[in-house]
Amino acid sequence: MKNRSSENDINRRHVEALARAESSVAKVSGQVAWDPMRMRYHLMAPAYWINDPCGLVEFKGEYHMFYQFNPYAPLWGHMHWGHARSRDLIHWEHLPIALAPSEPYDMHPRGGIFTGCAMADGDELKVIYCGSTGEGSSLCQVQCLAVSRDGVHFIKDPENPVIGQPPPEGSANFRDPNIWRHNDWWYMVLGTCQDERGKAVLYRSRDMKQWEYIGVMAASDGTLGTMWECPDFFPLGDKYVLIFSPMGLGKVKGLYLVGDLDYETGHFEWYSKGELDYGCEYYAPQTFEDSQGRRIMFGWLNAWEWMPCFQGFGPTVKNNWCGAVSLPRVLSLDQNGHLCCAPAQEVESLREEGFHWENFLLHPGEKMINGKAGGVSLEIVLLCDLKKTTARELGLVLRANEETGRQTVLRYFPATGELVFDRSKADACHAEESRCRCPADESGLVSLRVFVDSSCVEVYGNGGSVCMTNRIYPDEGCTQTEIYAKDGEANIVSLDVWTLKSIEETASGK
Ligand code: FRU
Repeated sequence: MKNRSSENDINRRHVEALARAESSVAKVSGQVAWDPMRMRYHLMAPAYWINDPCGLVEFKGEYHMFYQFNPYAPLWGHMHWGHARSRDLIHWEHLPIALAPSEPYDMHPRGGIFTGCAMADGDELKVIYCGSTGEGSSLCQVQCLAVSRDGVHFIKDPENPVIGQPPPEGSANFRDPNIWRHNDWWYMVLGTCQDERGKAVLYRSRDMKQWEYIGVMAASDGTLGTMWECPDFFPLGDKYVLIFSPMGLGKVKGLYLVGDLDYETGHFEWYSKGELDYGCEYYAPQTFEDSQGRRIMFGWLNAWEWMPCFQGFGPTVKNNWCGAVSLPRVLSLDQNGHLCCAPAQEVESLREEGFHWENFLLHPGEKMINGKAGGVSLEIVLLCDLKKTTARELGLVLRANEETGRQTVLRYFPATGELVFDRSKADACHAEESRCRCPADESGLVSLRVFVDSSCVEVYGNGGSVCMTNRIYPDEGCTQTEIYAKDGEANIVSLDVWTLKSIEETASGK
């Protein structure tokens, strides 16, 4: 018989831990808000550190996002679940911190309340998160349940942890539970590793408390990472998709596998795979299905220091904040089993002033946009006809300042279909490029949709069939935007630029 605390004791400790965390954040959030590098329309924590978005769910008609949150410093540690709520996936209201470490199974200094998921179950919102038990090298991750009636205040289950032992075919590193409903069962996928190979393992339960191990869904054969973090499994069309964040794979930070699941053995037979984002700063994405039937994904706009393209968490740390969450991406599969991630339609509500050009030839040295649409908060949509393009290179210059030479450049090479995100002159912190292939379709058309914010750029090529996300930290004076062609002409079918509203301003009606 386990020695369990009563529900009242658990609650009291939890409420105290939450209050301590809230008062820590309140001390700095006013000052943090003035930093010009704060994003204009990407969600951030009110202050200090944020990593993975998690527990994404639509509950009683509202979208909820929880996130890995350190309310004590702009660095990883003391993991809590921060909480925000939205009606449109764009404008977020900060809610009280949802979960704080307070119990022996979730307050280890190297642990805390790690990533997990949320599910509406009747009238209740249930979350399952990863905690940890044990000491030193015997530290073992465990899975825990907490429940809320109002979607704001959570009570930890007195029977926690609900999974206290590592999976038979995994290790003590097993985390980031994600659950879904199928045929009267709750199913859970967890990320783990064994012998330096990442794995996703499957469990099932009737009540979210007693979990039965089923088996390994999928595992690395040695080429897919040493540990799989943040697995997420969902139906898309008539297929299933498994996404995860692999460790130890260099620049590859997010993978998806497409296939079919055998619910009896747990085996996921996959036939196609790909990368979720080709930039350096898009990690630990999670998805959920909303009431419109859309599969929506949000990711963390940073990456860990163990990644080769890691260049530090940037200058915002000294202003007491670090990290942000991507725009909502709506997932779909094409007939080849390729995953497309396109911005949710709601992002269009951010559009303010728009500029439109169409059907023109861009000559080398010509200036188009400059002086018309500049700033730090923009959406740019470019459609180019490569069949009528002779330029060897074309692209967009973003967040530039002619006087200081600062610029971020998106270069496109028609001959190879290669797209390069060059931030060598973007700021004082970055040097690395990111690149991917973004070939034209059969009619020769290639499109780029680019979202520029104060300290990040999200790029969607060909309607989201490739994504590339990077942080940049130019100063406020870097506001020029330009399109260019080199060594020949570019045939531009259309070019649209919008300045985008700030979500804070919209929220307060300014
Ligand atoms: C991914 C991750 C998760 C873990 C969390 C801890 O970024 O490492 O595996 O739950 O962050 O904050």
